[in-house]
Amino acid sequence: MNANLEQIKQEIITGSEGLKSSKEVYEFKKTFLDGKTGKIGLLMKEMKNIAPEERAAYGKGVNELKEWALEFLGELDLEMRAKELEARYEAEKLDITLPAEKVEEGNLHPITLIRNQLIDVFAGMGFQIYEGTEIETDYYNFTALNTPQDHPARDMQDTFYLSPEFLLRTQTSAGQIHVMENSKPPIKILSPGKVFRSDDDATHSPMFTQMEGLVVDKGITLCDLQGMLDVFVKKIYGEGTRTRLRPSYFPFTEPSVEVDCSCFECGGKGCKLCKGTGWIEILGAGIVNNKVLENCGIDPNEYSGLAFGIGIERTAMLKYGINNIKLLFESDLRVLKQLND
Ligand code: PHE
Repeated sequence: MNANLEQIKQEIITGSEGLKSSKEVYEFKKTFLDGKTGKIGLLMKEMKNIAPEERAAYGKGVNELKEWALEFLGELDLEMRAKELEARYEAEKLDITLPAEKVEEGNLHPITLIRNQLIDVFAGMGFQIYEGTEIETDYYNFTALNTPQDHPARDMQDTFYLSPEFLLRTQTSAGQIHVMENSKPPIKILSPGKVFRSDDDATHSPMFTQMEGLVVDKGITLCDLQGMLDVFVKKIYGEGTRTRLRPSYFPFTEPSVEVDCSCFECGGKGCKLCKGTGWIEILGAGIVNNKVLENCGIDPNEYSGLAFGIGIERTAMLKYGINNIKLLFESDLRVLKQLND
């Protein structure tokens, strides 16, 4: 064989020893077999410098070298690919006997938990959910609830006014009016939602959550109210819990009551939670004032109603033994993780 061809063959053999990947094989192959520019391609261009009688043998030699190189480097390429595949399998190996990684699960916020529990309890007694709006007019939040402009009871709730007419509702009671204006008795609704008051200390926040209950039908009395609230406290605070009603005042109920439940911490003996009284105040309620029924076009001679307003944060604070309402709004996971039952 022509010495030049032999030299190239050797070059391929020794050069290939240092190749480490199929990509390197590809690049190496290109330097010899890239059309007319690779080293073997260039050999063909030499033809004109070869003596005519040697040309046939030379051409044959070049072709043989080309075929040999193709096969040699082709095999090397296959070998490399096989090794690379092996290495990939090794690297991507999955040990299915390893224990699974722990997935952190989230919890519902305590306010959502209590809200859902209350909805469950009252839905079980046939209440339907009505969600009012957070922006209300002065009429729905106060006037229609028997609290006209100059009424002293307006001072009970420090109001965020948006304009002389519009305000952020201070109580979910505003929803009572919408419901009574738009539906005929029998009415049995539960209205959860955010309310707003300019009030801020350990037990008050400018934004908090209430759950309003309203029942209007023939012959509704305080006994119906107490019966429903008994079911509620037993479900939320435990079977042995009882209720008691104390006289109170709200412009939109007459009579109005403050509802206490027997202390679920000490069972009524007196402890720190109930400040030694055996009772804990849980909500405001009453019989819907005749004037409110009239404002909504309901005849008080035919129908009567009961209403109650539960503070959800207060319920959560009592249930979980939290003494600062801010803990419920700060989203501190160390706190929230403890309040998820
Ligand atoms: N709306 C009253 C409050 O926010 C609570 C209440 C609701 C009282 C329904 C009586 C009847 O203080």
